[in-house]
Amino acid sequence: MKSPGRVNLIGEHIDYAGLSVFPMAVERQMIACFRRRSDSIVRLMNVEARFSPREFTLSSTIEPSAGGDWANYAKASGQELFRHFGPLQGFDALVSSDLPVAAGLSSSSALVIACALMLVQVNGISVGTLELAELMARAERYAGPQGGGMDQAICLGARKNTASVIDFHPLRLTPVTVPDEWRFIVAASLVQADKAGAALKEYNRRTRECAEALSTVIESLGLAGRIDSYGALLAHRTAEDLSGEAEQTLEGDLRKRFRHVVKESDRVKKAESAMTNGDRAGFGRLMSESHLSLRHDFEVSCAELDELVDIAQDAGAEGARLTGAGFGGCVIALCHETRMETVLTALTERFYSKRRFEGSLEDQLFVARPSEGASVSSL
Ligand code: GLA
Repeated sequence: MKSPGRVNLIGEHIDYAGLSVFPMAVERQMIACFRRRSDSIVRLMNVEARFSPREFTLSSTIEPSAGGDWANYAKASGQELFRHFGPLQGFDALVSSDLPVAAGLSSSSALVIACALMLVQVNGISVGTLELAELMARAERYAGPQGGGMDQAICLGARKNTASVIDFHPLRLTPVTVPDEWRFIVAASLVQADKAGAALKEYNRRTRECAEALSTVIESLGLAGRIDSYGALLAHRTAEDLSGEAEQTLEGDLRKRFRHVVKESDRVKKAESAMTNGDRAGFGRLMSESHLSLRHDFEVSCAELDELVDIAQDAGAEGARLTGAGFGGCVIALCHETRMETVLTALTERFYSKRRFEGSLEDQLFVARPSEGASVSSL
């Protein structure tokens, strides 16, 4: 079976506010060979020695491993599917991945989805893609982050050569063809987001701040009881109006978080039309605006991410931004195919040649090709 990573093109930190996002799956992926077991045990092995073997029994309450342990992503899907579909048989699996870990490319959701599909397959469960994506979005919160549903939905529902606008409540994916000559370059900051510690705490803090800012604004507009979501609010007022409103009613961090959320939502809509119309310059501009907003208003960037964005833009990328949760991880830059080598060279010379890192440069810097979602095949 195979389960891809993803890059989010635009729409960052707004999926958990129920607002649309615009990611694509990438060729980098997790691959697993597996076989059914006759008991309810899951045994996982990884070709990478740093992920030592794990074993657990499927049940409706599976004891989590230590924070950050890779078993937690498998346990997350096992527990959720057990709760939903009843007693399950397990599997033995050997897992391998060329997705960098803790780099904002959703290696964790790739594992959650991989385990879910293996359980679905060995137990003959009948479940639709969108239903499974929703179940797994809830499931992954077992591992700590109180995230939205973007990663699981794109990992399962992506189509080759397209990015997808994902709407929530109800979940829906609308594929948009990525123009042939567009290139999305992924560059790792070499800063790993500490998903069991500081980054997790900050991520969950952002989700709370967004919810708090929303209720304060709804209250101040006298809409309490009538409206309860960012989506409903944005259906009535423009992002511009709402940011103006927030200036009056919110202070400090909450004001900044709110401004990011409503404006980022607006950028997603504009980005969808830009891609549909082949307007690369327009799409790139929106990406760069998104980065500035994530840096100053949402405060999830870091010096290395900002530096990569600057280098890519100087070298002729139409736009660049951090992708994923931030606090480290990767940036994504957009350019025309004829500019690609120049941008890659600038990033290599001005960023990577000055730093030490494990593995090859291709693990840190590569072109992301829009790929299809997870699937299972039989030998
Ligand atoms: C993580 C979460 C997603 C989303 C992004 C930020 O990847 O898993 O749900 O919130 O961060 O956009």
